[in-house]
Amino acid sequence: MFQRFISKQLARPSGLFGRLFTARWLEKANAGMNRLTIEGLALGAHDRLLEVGFGSGCLLEMVLANNLCSSIAGVDVSREMIQHVSGRLRRYIEEGKAEIRYGDIESLPYGNGEFSKLCSVNTLYFWHDPRVALAECLRVLGVGGRLTLCFNAKADLAQWPGHVYGFTLYELSQVEEMLAAAGFSAIEVMSRNDPGQGLYYCVTGTAA
Ligand SMILES: C[S@@+](CC[C@H](N)C(=O)[O-])C[C@H]1O[C@@H](n2cnc3c(N)ncnc32)[C@H](O)[C@@H]1O
Repeated sequence: MFQRFISKQLARPSGLFGRLFTARWLEKANAGMNRLTIEGLALGAHDRLLEVGFGSGCLLEMVLANNLCSSIAGVDVSREMIQHVSGRLRRYIEEGKAEIRYGDIESLPYGNGEFSKLCSVNTLYFWHDPRVALAECLRVLGVGGRLTLCFNAKADLAQWPGHVYGFTLYELSQVEEMLAAAGFSAIEVMSRNDPGQGLYYCVTGTAA
């Protein structure tokens, strides 16, 4: 029962628990994955970045605080996380450097080629149809835009009993194949093995 509840919170943080606990927990537990994703993105001054499934907003704040690109946008399906991150990034939103909206990776609320970089950390497990999701990523990235996905290794995440409640786990090779099939090239992989988080990958591809 508890594992099912936690799995649902991770897929879509909600309610008081989501606001008070899930956001803080994601912030702490996934800091290493967010740092590696920023490294994989190789942001430049002219980049416009979209993060899909920002959770606590940790990655977006790191990018903004360090002035790593020209502007950012974030979408998430959790109303609680949208509210939380809209407050957290208020200063940047008012300055016109950040935009936070509701959005599902399978139907992104943006036009073609609006972003040069796109990232998503720990959301792949919850996508209903990865082909649709990756086609959407490709669409909102201009040609030459870069997509970075960060996710836990299948064998490591499979050891956590809660994964049976709504998680789809992927081997690294499956993700590489999915990106290539969707139209991404020059695929690069980085990995880390943190004591608390286990093994995780950061896969980056260029929109052709
Ligand atoms: C496990 S949390 C990860 C949050 C953050 N990226 C991190 O790693 O700490 C997953 C987040 O993705 C969001 N999410 C899940 N499915 C999504 C989808 N289809 N489109 C957009 N966001 C999604 C959830 O609401 C949640 O905020």
